[in-house]
Amino acid sequence: MKHIKYSSPEISKTAQKMIDRDRKVMFGAHTRTREIPLVVDHARGARVTDIDGKTFLDFGAGFAVVGTGHCHPKVLQAVNTQVERLIHISGSDFYYEPQITLAEKLIDITPGDFAKRVYFGSSGAEAVEATLKISRHFTRRPRMISFIGAFHGRTFSGMTMSGSKKIQRARFSSLIPEVYHIPFPYCYRCIFRQTYPDCIEKEYEGIPLVHCLSYLTDVIFERLIDPDDVALIMVEPIQGEGGYIVPPKEFLPALRVLADKHGIVLAFDEIQCGLGRTGKWFACDHVGVAPDIMLIAKAIASGFPMSATVANATLMDPEIDQRAWRPGAHGSTFGGNPVIAAAGIASLDIIEKELIKNAHEIGTFLKQELIDLMSRHTIIGEVRGMGLMIGLELVQDKKTKEPFPPVVTKDGKNIKEVITGESYKRGLILYGAGVCSIRMSPPLMITKDDAQQAITIIDEVITHVEEQLA
Ligand SMILES: Cc1ncc(COP(=O)(O)O)c(C=O)c1O
Repeated sequence: MKHIKYSSPEISKTAQKMIDRDRKVMFGAHTRTREIPLVVDHARGARVTDIDGKTFLDFGAGFAVVGTGHCHPKVLQAVNTQVERLIHISGSDFYYEPQITLAEKLIDITPGDFAKRVYFGSSGAEAVEATLKISRHFTRRPRMISFIGAFHGRTFSGMTMSGSKKIQRARFSSLIPEVYHIPFPYCYRCIFRQTYPDCIEKEYEGIPLVHCLSYLTDVIFERLIDPDDVALIMVEPIQGEGGYIVPPKEFLPALRVLADKHGIVLAFDEIQCGLGRTGKWFACDHVGVAPDIMLIAKAIASGFPMSATVANATLMDPEIDQRAWRPGAHGSTFGGNPVIAAAGIASLDIIEKELIKNAHEIGTFLKQELIDLMSRHTIIGEVRGMGLMIGLELVQDKKTKEPFPPVVTKDGKNIKEVITGESYKRGLILYGAGVCSIRMSPPLMITKDDAQQAITIIDEVITHVEEQLA
């Protein structure tokens, strides 16, 4: 392949000064690149303005966090009112209304017609941590199942359960033992070289089984581990960091049956794909499957740090089941903070009243426009996603699906960096995902005009790259 000619975005003197100061004090393991050298001054709705006054259309939403848009006035109002009343007292130890109201709302909107309980933390990884503790405590079993391509965060639990990039785990051994990673149904690049739906060759307990899950039933559960030793199956109903990968509709129902049969806790990590992003409250609502534990974070409080672990009450309340974790077994100083809970209540209200429908409508429009782009361009191999969670997979050759090599420019950039860098130069913030994918996760309040503006830029960027490959 010819090298693509590409130069990183220019950085103004003012921005460079800030970046230099940052480099001297920040932690070094961050994922920043020169391709999005964004030094932010302020943001509103779907627009972010840098310190030089240049405005960008934000199709990343701070990693799918600001679902309601940046600084939504109703969120600001809720926060300002709560700040005057109570900022902190510790929700693990005392009682206050916003935490209770938010928990009630989460119980109401999460799937599953059963009693539930909620644990609040401050980050997605804390929900992952809690999920591991809940399931081990309840089942007293050691083993866990996760998926290749999964991303569950940066703590030892998150890192162990993730299967996305080796840099995220390298040199951190030992991780938590007894976690088995199995293939996620990434049908565009099936590692078993099967084709969906022909890959469904058999049933499990009367439920169609996609081929990759027979690796769990026929290999892992037959040769390596007894399913009765497994505490937890954790899965993202749509993989995020892995490349915005939507599994076939048969996947989650089969996991539910498998988990039920063996008394395994089934947890859905909807930290990225939940809360209206896919055009329903939760991605699993599209196939009507409820988990035992739902992990929620990112968009819950419009940018204020919070996560919620919503579990079947049996798993979390020792008054209902004595196997559940007991008082003192878990907690958090900041979890359920009153100000953040107030932001959460306002955010869920906005999402429910205005944004779920918008995510579906604008997402459908955006996806169709991207599919049209795919028919006109050679390097878009697949457009996938639901609502406003859309991924593009980039390929060198559509027929062979050959991915781009890890380096495509003379100075060592990969194709994701080139596309996101060129988009940034034209005023659009996009992130990469997976090996060769671009993800779109804009605020859920974007308009058709915003979507059209993004399409125009992406079209221009892809054309620019293709011209150099010709
Ligand atoms: C699906 C998923 N789970 C867990 C996490 C970890 O969340 P946090 O970074 O808030 O710890 C992320 C973050 O990107 C995620 O996308």
